[in-house]
Amino acid sequence: MNNLDADVIRLNLGDAAAERLGQLEIFAEIDSTNSYLMQQPAPAPGKIHVALTDNQTAGRGRHGRSWQSPQGSGLCLSIAHTFASPPTNLPALTLAIGLGAIKTLDDLNVPAVQLKWPNDLIALDSKLGGILTEAQTQPGGAVTVVSGIGLNIDFNERPEVLLEMDDGRRAIDLKSQVAELPEWNRIAAGLVSELSQAIADYESGGFKQFSSQWAQHDWLFGREVTISAQGRQIKGTGAGIGDDGALLVDTLSEGRQRVTSGSVVMAGAREPA
Ligand code: BTN
Repeated sequence: MNNLDADVIRLNLGDAAAERLGQLEIFAEIDSTNSYLMQQPAPAPGKIHVALTDNQTAGRGRHGRSWQSPQGSGLCLSIAHTFASPPTNLPALTLAIGLGAIKTLDDLNVPAVQLKWPNDLIALDSKLGGILTEAQTQPGGAVTVVSGIGLNIDFNERPEVLLEMDDGRRAIDLKSQVAELPEWNRIAAGLVSELSQAIADYESGGFKQFSSQWAQHDWLFGREVTISAQGRQIKGTGAGIGDDGALLVDTLSEGRQRVTSGSVVMAGAREPA
């Protein structure tokens, strides 16, 4: 346990997040912070519930994959929020959450973290974190969304986390990226502040306001990619995202393709400039 402390986290929140925060629960061990919040009563409109641990025993990733986070190796943080009516473009919320995580890391002076569409945080071409967004429709039509982030922080005593990603890339921890690791409660408070702001901005203005920020952190841009989407494989070069968060891929045979769901099964080198 890394002295995760709800009072310290609350004290380090920005004003808007402090106002929005309903429950903040810290677990010494839990199966999955996403699963937990999905089973809890929905937060009231305008409020968020947060579940946090550094020891997750059955973490889940996208496409039914697992997320490894044994004790002390990383932060697992989930935020629940209720949308009064179904958001029109829910998959793009994951991208906005990713940008919130980048802002948190920027504020903590962690350099050069990138985003791999749609949900990976990348440092030195390796996976620093991942995001999983899930939704549940409430009676009456409101939709509760749970967005969970796993951030690898310190693998020192946990080399077993160094697993390969789906496209052959390895995991990396924050500790290897900074001269001095920020205090875990500060990282958690930064994530709660920025992720809740991203959710609020997305709710009021949709994804379009975020799309230009993505370009500054787009790890796939200019890379040769193979995407598995809607039962077919698309091979081409990453060409950024659309205003709606769709991945754009330039292919040789079919021109520019838009990918709204799917996963990157292979990402190669960047195209020479
Ligand atoms: C992925 O890379 O596919 C997404 C990984 C998401 C992991 C986080 S850890 C906190 C939350 N709880 C989970 O079970 N999953 C998410």
